Amino acid sequence: MDKLLKIKNLSVRLGEKEVVKNLSMDIYRGEVVALVGESGSGKSTLARTIMGFHNISKGEIFFKNRRIDILGDKEYSKIRGKEIAMVFQNSMNAFNPTIRTGGQIGEPLYLHTGEKKSSVFEKVYTALGKLNLDKKRTYSSFPHELSGGMKQRAAFAMGSICDPEILILDEITTAIDIVNFRTIINSVKQKRKETGVLLITHNMNLARALADRIAIIKNGIIIEEGVNILNDPLHPYTKLLVSSELTTSCKRKEIKIPVYNKTDIESDGCPFAPNCFDAMKICLEKVGYEIKLENRTIRCWQYDPKWLRRQDCE
Ligand SMILES: Nc1ncnc2c1ncn2[C@@H]1O[C@H](COP(=O)(O)OP(=O)(O)OP(=O)(O)O)[C@@H](O)[C@H]1O
Ligand code: SF4
Ligand SMILES: [Mg+2]
Repeated sequence: MDKLLKIKNLSVRLGEKEVVKNLSMDIYRGEVVALVGESGSGKSTLARTIMGFHNISKGEIFFKNRRIDILGDKEYSKIRGKEIAMVFQNSMNAFNPTIRTGGQIGEPLYLHTGEKKSSVFEKVYTALGKLNLDKKRTYSSFPHELSGGMKQRAAFAMGSICDPEILILDEITTAIDIVNFRTIINSVKQKRKETGVLLITHNMNLARALADRIAIIKNGIIIEEGVNILNDPLHPYTKLLVSSELTTSCKRKEIKIPVYNKTDIESDGCPFAPNCFDAMKICLEKVGYEIKLENRTIRCWQYDPKWLRRQDCE
């Protein structure tokens, strides 16, 4: 498969806090990678860093084998929005209230391709139609004349209008009902034939429905990543996420859930250590042992062969 994006040992510090820590991730052409994690875990920061909005303190980012984290703003702006595009969290609220929606959706095409007005109009109309929106009305409406779900779909149309090779979707479906949720899913699936998608979401069902791979992030560290991991979680934190989800469903499972105190304490150890039933001394000192299994990678000291041998001897 064609690797579009390679993130290697990336760390990002914002103010006093290291928000992304030594993170590595690849995105291939035609796949959807879901990034799932609790609020404040660094998902949007990672996305904005890929878009070139944050300086990195360590690591490298490659787009189609070209290192992009070292590009100046002028060079970055040539790929941003065109080859690597993002639908920002809350972007439905970022429309300019004084400009009609259609003109704003077409803006990236003028900016990056210099296309003629008639061709931009055609493309915006086509995009709106695919998203189940009344083309004429949406095009000519001011943003405040659209509902939240319509605005969110319009924001999706704007972010993806240039048919980017990498498309980052940051919590794009919060205001959308189930029918239009399906429309967005179909639209993402149509794009994914060519595009690599990074799908940031709290919604585990959305991740299950769309993603080829899922990465679970906690305090800026990917603790488990792989195929189908939400149906068969192995890392204690992923298990907690999944079991928390099941407690609100009729398929409730009896899984022991620790009292979960969210902590912002900076530590070099496993980000889940303050809440993990199985935490050991080493968990407080070092990020978990990284092990690659058949369908996933996990970072947890329970998988350290030395620790397993010690357990056998006890
Ligand atoms: N510009 C900034 N300066 C300092 N700290 C920041 C800045 N932006 C974000 N942070 C901090 O970085 C951490 C991660 O924020 P981020 O927005 O990446 O989280 P998130 O995973 O996207 O959360 P959510 O699911 O709520 O959107 C938070 O603790 C946040 O307060
Ligand atoms: S590394 Fe330690 S604290 Fe972290 S999840 Fe594994 S056992 Fe728990
Ligand atoms: Mg966010």
